[in-house]
Amino acid sequence: MRKFPEHFLWGGSTAANQIEGAWNIGRKGISIADCCTKGSKDKPRMITFRTKEGDVKSQKMFTLNVPEGNEIGCFDGFDYPSHRGIDFYHHFKDDIALFGEMGFRMLRISINWTRIFPLGWEKEPNEEGLKFYDEVFDECIKHKIQPMVTLSHYEMPVALTNKWNGWADERTIQCFTHYVKVVGERYRGKVKYWLTFNEINGIQFCGWMGAGVTSNDPQVIADASLHQLVASAYAVSILHQIDSSNLVGNMIGYSTSYALSANPQDALKLWKNYNDTYFYCDVQCRGYYPSYIFREYEARHIQLHLTDEYKEILKKGTVDFISISYYMSTCVSAEEKGLDIVNGNLAFGLKNPYLETSEWGWQIDPIGLRLGLNYLYDRYQKPLFVVENGLGAHDHVKADGSICDSYRIDYLRQHIIEMNKAIYEDGVELMGYLPWGCIDLVSASTGEMRKRYGFIYTDYQDDGTGDGKRLRKDSFGWYKKVIESQGEEL
Ligand code: BG6
Repeated sequence: MRKFPEHFLWGGSTAANQIEGAWNIGRKGISIADCCTKGSKDKPRMITFRTKEGDVKSQKMFTLNVPEGNEIGCFDGFDYPSHRGIDFYHHFKDDIALFGEMGFRMLRISINWTRIFPLGWEKEPNEEGLKFYDEVFDECIKHKIQPMVTLSHYEMPVALTNKWNGWADERTIQCFTHYVKVVGERYRGKVKYWLTFNEINGIQFCGWMGAGVTSNDPQVIADASLHQLVASAYAVSILHQIDSSNLVGNMIGYSTSYALSANPQDALKLWKNYNDTYFYCDVQCRGYYPSYIFREYEARHIQLHLTDEYKEILKKGTVDFISISYYMSTCVSAEEKGLDIVNGNLAFGLKNPYLETSEWGWQIDPIGLRLGLNYLYDRYQKPLFVVENGLGAHDHVKADGSICDSYRIDYLRQHIIEMNKAIYEDGVELMGYLPWGCIDLVSASTGEMRKRYGFIYTDYQDDGTGDGKRLRKDSFGWYKKVIESQGEEL
């Protein structure tokens, strides 16, 4: 296979709430992730809250509907995986050294907003939190790894939810942009690559994770989407002002879709489905709301509070590049009744008879990645970055401590081959590849540890046992060679 371009950024990807642990250390506040309990493949994650009467209750994260006046928080007797993470907070030096050993050129992490502003609306940042990320970035730089920072990865302050219902309220924009100014100034020169909101299109499937809102009511989701899109555009402008060499991208949860049949009704449904993903990307890349969304909102009786001031901000803050997560593809059909459904990270879809699934039921489709990259590049002509991809699987540690994860290597190899084709056969501009969970971490959708993505095994188990030791899996040495050979040796 032809070598990837010289400047291609190989590395890995993580998020603060899924690795750091130390949830209440260093004056950190409580984030929305900190209030999600552990689930599993068959058991949903729950959000915990105290009612006005003082009772502690919980509701399913994906179908949340907590009435106003209840207080979301963490309570005794529940298991919250983000509180432990993989204790990156205390292990980051060793972990980054391992990434350096693999030859990473980039590491994607998120800044936990609540380490910097524990409640979200304070004027003065928390110095202890700022210092922590200074140390993390310095360590990366020591190992010749460029940090890529996600400003918001499912971890806004829960205090903002309890006060204003999170992103449903426009005042959250100001809190966020203040936070962006503070971290942008502080890490000027250390961080050049920024992403605004992780999987921003995920708001429509899980308002809680995406926007810290307490229901999936369509009006609330539309308001939260508008406020986040405006905040994202604002963040782009702020970061460009702070340092004109900053590169700021959006982040879309991308899942390629196919029409289940040649029935034109299925094709129509497919197109509508794609608009749900492209809507966010259209605004972030083009700087305005697309015409189809006005029609859709009208038909669904959703009010759009798009002011002239917002329009101006959106126009000015278009992104420099598009980043995506890509794990799987699904099928769509106009008539879904009776058809087999498959799982996904953000949304469910229909089963594709030509594809295998992972242990967690996600359909494996490397060609879907090539297609997705082409669709996006054709539509926007902006550089693309794959900042998440990988296989969540159960790993077995042998008595000698080795972990043979050939299934993971196969998955990644096939996706790398398709990216190579997208670059050299199709002409797509691709900046880099950051496989998800390069070190085993807490799963976002289920909160489990046993769903592992990493090149590095972390000894933390779902029952709370494990001593946290780090082990190199077979994929560790394999990925090291891939990076060394610029993708030639797969
Ligand atoms: C993406 C998220 O949706 O998928 C990550 O950005 C998440 O936070 C990843 O961890 C994999 O999903 P899961 O549910 O297997 O952790």
